[in-house]
Amino acid sequence: MTDVIRVDPASPDLAALKPAADRLRTGGLVAFPTETVYGLGAHAMDAAAVRRVFEAKGRPANDPLIVHIPRIGSLDQLVSRVPDTARTLAAKFWPGPLTLVLPRAAGVPDEVTAGLGTVAVRMPSHPVARALLDLADVPVAAPSANLFSRPSPTRASHVLDDLKDRIDVLIDGGPTEVGIESTVLDLTGDTPTILRPGATTLEALRQVLPQTVVGSPVAPATGAPTSLPSPGMLHKHYSPRAPMTLYEGTGAVDAMVADARLARNRGQRIGILAADEDRRRLGAAGGVEGGPPLKIVTVGSSDDADAVAARLYGALRELDAAGVDLILVRGFPARGGIGLAIQDRLRRAAGNRIAT
Ligand code: TXA
Ligand code: MG
Repeated sequence: MTDVIRVDPASPDLAALKPAADRLRTGGLVAFPTETVYGLGAHAMDAAAVRRVFEAKGRPANDPLIVHIPRIGSLDQLVSRVPDTARTLAAKFWPGPLTLVLPRAAGVPDEVTAGLGTVAVRMPSHPVARALLDLADVPVAAPSANLFSRPSPTRASHVLDDLKDRIDVLIDGGPTEVGIESTVLDLTGDTPTILRPGATTLEALRQVLPQTVVGSPVAPATGAPTSLPSPGMLHKHYSPRAPMTLYEGTGAVDAMVADARLARNRGQRIGILAADEDRRRLGAAGGVEGGPPLKIVTVGSSDDADAVAARLYGALRELDAAGVDLILVRGFPARGGIGLAIQDRLRRAAGNRIAT
């Protein structure tokens, strides 16, 4: 049984959150909204509770978790040393969607870090997450609250679709604002290195630490990453049930229309993810009257990366649910900002099927 608690995302009722915080402290699994995506939380210092997270998600044990903390002081029990760079970044970006990889303290269970010498930590800014962490008063290990291989959940209904009756509590705080996960930044080496692009942009980080680099190639189209990426990023990430092709470059929409027409004439059901302004041109993808259904989901204007980020995962879930035979996705040019994270997630979802 999963208890669902509905709260006001801006000013949650603490009395309503208290039982969920108690469940967390005593080894339960509690899904909660953050500013990025919903997380599935467990007491980070309770190895048995953390193992339940992996079981509930079907997540491989070698993919480490992010520990969520209510205040900077909570770092002390998790990390062996706080580099100056971490203090500077925390002062500027916490609470917020930035995860710092730091040298791990001995007391952190191997289950959390997958046995690495480092631990990933972040202080979320969502009022519900903050209130829950405050009440629980323990560090909370929380991956995104989806089944392994599904898109991260941006609504409580997504969490239920994947994890109903596998978790103890779901706190429903409405849709999440950002829609794409936090940026994971490794501070254990000489150069601050982005292991996963995310909601805190490279540009913003460079304003504070100009030497910041993007570590692993952002979603290599082919071949293996050339430098050490975030362990979890080695796994094949979300990919839809139907084969998905990502169309990048200037001719993307025309190529999608042509491919969709051909496929529909072969009798295939097509799902399309595109920008609002593509809709009119995509009308031509319908081809012959009375052909198999064509599902088009739009995620905002390509000029509005924040809107695209917020709707992306929900759109991918919608296409999966439609049961189409092929999925065609328009690429969104990464003009900086959160565009880098959007491009990264779409390339990962498409695997090697990228048309340019
Ligand atoms: O926005 C977010 O970060 C969300 C919300 C719930 O906070 N969480 C999230 O967690 O996306 P998850 O488990 O889906 O992704 C965690 C990422 C993985 O890519 C993992 O490999 C990386 O963080 N990670 C965790 N610990 C690490 C470590 N010690 N060193 C390098 N990467 C680490
Ligand atoms: Mg995840």
